[in-house]
Amino acid sequence: MPLKIQNVLVCDAVDKSCVDLLQEHGINVTYKLKLPVDELCKEVKNFDAAIVRSDTKITAEVLAAGAGSLKVVGRAGAGVDNIDVTAATSHNVVVLNTPGGNSISACELTCILIGALARPVVPAGQSMKEGRWDRKLYSGSELYGKTLAVLGLGRIGREVGIRMKTWGMRVIGYDPITTEAEAKAAGIEKMTLEQIWPLADYITVHTPLIPATRNLISTETLSKCKHGVKVVNVARGGIIDEQAVLEALESGKCAGAAFDVYPEEPPKSEVTKALINHPKVVATPHLGASTSEAQVRVAVEVAEQFIALNGTSPKYTT
Ligand code: MLT
Repeated sequence: MPLKIQNVLVCDAVDKSCVDLLQEHGINVTYKLKLPVDELCKEVKNFDAAIVRSDTKITAEVLAAGAGSLKVVGRAGAGVDNIDVTAATSHNVVVLNTPGGNSISACELTCILIGALARPVVPAGQSMKEGRWDRKLYSGSELYGKTLAVLGLGRIGREVGIRMKTWGMRVIGYDPITTEAEAKAAGIEKMTLEQIWPLADYITVHTPLIPATRNLISTETLSKCKHGVKVVNVARGGIIDEQAVLEALESGKCAGAAFDVYPEEPPKSEVTKALINHPKVVATPHLGASTSEAQVRVAVEVAEQFIALNGTSPKYTT
């Protein structure tokens, strides 16, 4: 028997197209953004479904509070990091996400950050705003002929490979699942991690955060890399050991780093703050999925899944 979703609580800012689509299908939508956990626990009792992005954490406590009423949690994004899936399963709560909707946006931000590490556009732009004209200070290096290592060859990693290859980079990559043929189709030479470390000029990570990928870039792995390697993380905070990168930036082992994601968001730790403020670091506040196109895509995808759970097919008005 299909689930009946009647009342949805939207906890994080999702595009209006999600709300419109749900309402067109007779589903009531209430927006209560960024509720403190005690208020969220009180609210979830009144809803049979909730929609989140990254900010709201659907913890075991929240799921226990919603037990008996909450049936579905949808994440307008890839992965389900901020939802306690084990607790959800024990309360028979269905967890949904939108794995593909953000891929192009996350890929494009990665490419932009790789570019920003090659050419210091961020500090140079700031210097102009401060009224300076320091051409000598802001010289960079070409990406052409350099080697980019893509760790994680899922949708986003492969799209990054395709784009950076057209810039004349040699693209090498690692993934335990993606086949050599799939990697090759994206112009990526699949290798082992041990083969990759000494070859890479740039390393970009595109894995989920799981025990096997936590601190994938560490003091140990950085020691196997070229002097002056540059690293990028638009995936999940924790895949790159921030303390290790900070030390490598100081020693010169790492010549630049770009971060869009952090172990804690917004960042509070001294290490993360030191990294963000480091002159060789470009930092952005988790913007991988923050484009108008991606937000419409994930909003529509999550709404469509809710509608399908109700046993109806989405209808569209133009
Ligand atoms: C994602 O996992 O797709 C993004 O991190 C979602 C977001 O930006 O909130």
